[in-house]
Amino acid sequence: MALPLTEVSQSQPPGLTTTKAPFIEAALSRGELYIHQPYELYSEANHEAWRKLYARMHDRWVKYANHRFLQGLETLCLTPDRIPRLEDVNKFMAPRTGFQAKPVSGYVPPFLFFDCLRRREFPTTITIRDGATLDYLPEPDIFHDIAGHVPMHTDKAFADTLVRFGESAHTAVRRVQDIRDKDEQARRATSIIKAMARFFWFTIEFGLMRSEDGKGLKAYGSGLLSSYGELAHSVDSPTVQRYPIQLEWVVNQYFEIDHYQPLLFIVEDFEHLFDLVGQLEQWMHQGKLDNVSPGEPALSDADIRSFIEATV
Ligand SMILES: [Fe+2]
Repeated sequence: MALPLTEVSQSQPPGLTTTKAPFIEAALSRGELYIHQPYELYSEANHEAWRKLYARMHDRWVKYANHRFLQGLETLCLTPDRIPRLEDVNKFMAPRTGFQAKPVSGYVPPFLFFDCLRRREFPTTITIRDGATLDYLPEPDIFHDIAGHVPMHTDKAFADTLVRFGESAHTAVRRVQDIRDKDEQARRATSIIKAMARFFWFTIEFGLMRSEDGKGLKAYGSGLLSSYGELAHSVDSPTVQRYPIQLEWVVNQYFEIDHYQPLLFIVEDFEHLFDLVGQLEQWMHQGKLDNVSPGEPALSDADIRSFIEATV
């Protein structure tokens, strides 16, 4: 006999599993992007997925992660066996750099996302991948966002780089809104957003950096730092092309999200990364991002409108 619904929900929370969370479905149906983290809804299976992900990453982080990421992990005091409460994460992070994890229901259009960074807010997914598919997930989840991104946000130089990148989105909006012709406006917005998304992808998500002793490479990109397989692959595999970063290459280079990256770019240090964002913004001013190479990432009308209709 089926249990009454109330008994089921009391004994077993519905869970916050990626693509299977009723709480998220309800928020999306109400058009709510910014939400709270309903911690009581995590199931034991959700916590178990976090525990497994965290446990197997630990040794890889020690071997392959940039030292500032490792310091960030210590600063945040992330719980290895339970999904973290974002308010606890923020308690440790905000005093360092002013950054805060801000829970969201799903995809954040690019201008809104970059503008959050400018305000030192990090849009954070609260769902977690199904424990049966630990290795690959096309969507971000809380492990990617909190264990992959947020430790870097405790570092002042990195945090300032994200803020500067967010500020450059305002420059992009002004450059787009300068144009009166609607078709040309959409075309220019598409080009500049592609350039920004590619820069973000090859640095913040998949960036490599020279190690402090100058003898090797370390990962600082969160897509690498949240992937058990790709983190080692990115540094050790002879099949990966690794080149010193060149801005003109990065902004014209398409990427695909559904397999390990065959091409990665290396920055020297965090000062170098910060300067590159400044150069990116300079290029925006000069119109150098108005005609970048077509190709991925694909942008939706909503993505493009997020810049055309932004108020800055
Ligand atoms: Fe990410």
